[in-house]
Amino acid sequence: MAETTIDLRRLPRSEAYDELRSQTEAVLEGIHDDVAAMATMSALIHHGFGHLWTGFYRVVEPGRLRVGPYQGTLGCMEIEFGRGVCGTAAAERRTVIVDDVAAFAGHITCDPRSRSEIVVPVFGRSGELIAVLDIDSDRPAAFDGKDGEGLERVVRWFREHG
Ligand code: SME
Repeated sequence: MAETTIDLRRLPRSEAYDELRSQTEAVLEGIHDDVAAMATMSALIHHGFGHLWTGFYRVVEPGRLRVGPYQGTLGCMEIEFGRGVCGTAAAERRTVIVDDVAAFAGHITCDPRSRSEIVVPVFGRSGELIAVLDIDSDRPAAFDGKDGEGLERVVRWFREHG
């Protein structure tokens, strides 16, 4: 395939997320498959920004998340709503940004190199929560509201095309 993963680190962040959104739409043209989209977004975001861990936890039954497509070291299998950063974002249906994972009560450690984290809720066509997108960095305070907005724009794909 001619598509290549773009290095997004050299762009201003809002442009980086616009680029990510366009690339996602281009790669997924004509594909209405959530798993394919999760795998594609994980690869583009992970390698584009050089994160430590990038992937999805899917809502598989009420109150339970299970790991989905991801890039990085082995992720934990299941997370209850309300537990850890992912479970908090799922329960509260909002983006959660953690500057220092060691200071977040209940943080679930999958890779001990993780220092900061962002988790964004993912909504499907009817506005129902279908997953969360979880990104970990080995740098402290790697994420802020601009990342939250940008990632929310990227995962809007599931609402529009999923
Ligand atoms: N740290 C997450 C768990 C998932 S892993 O980081 C891949 C959390 O506290 O929810």
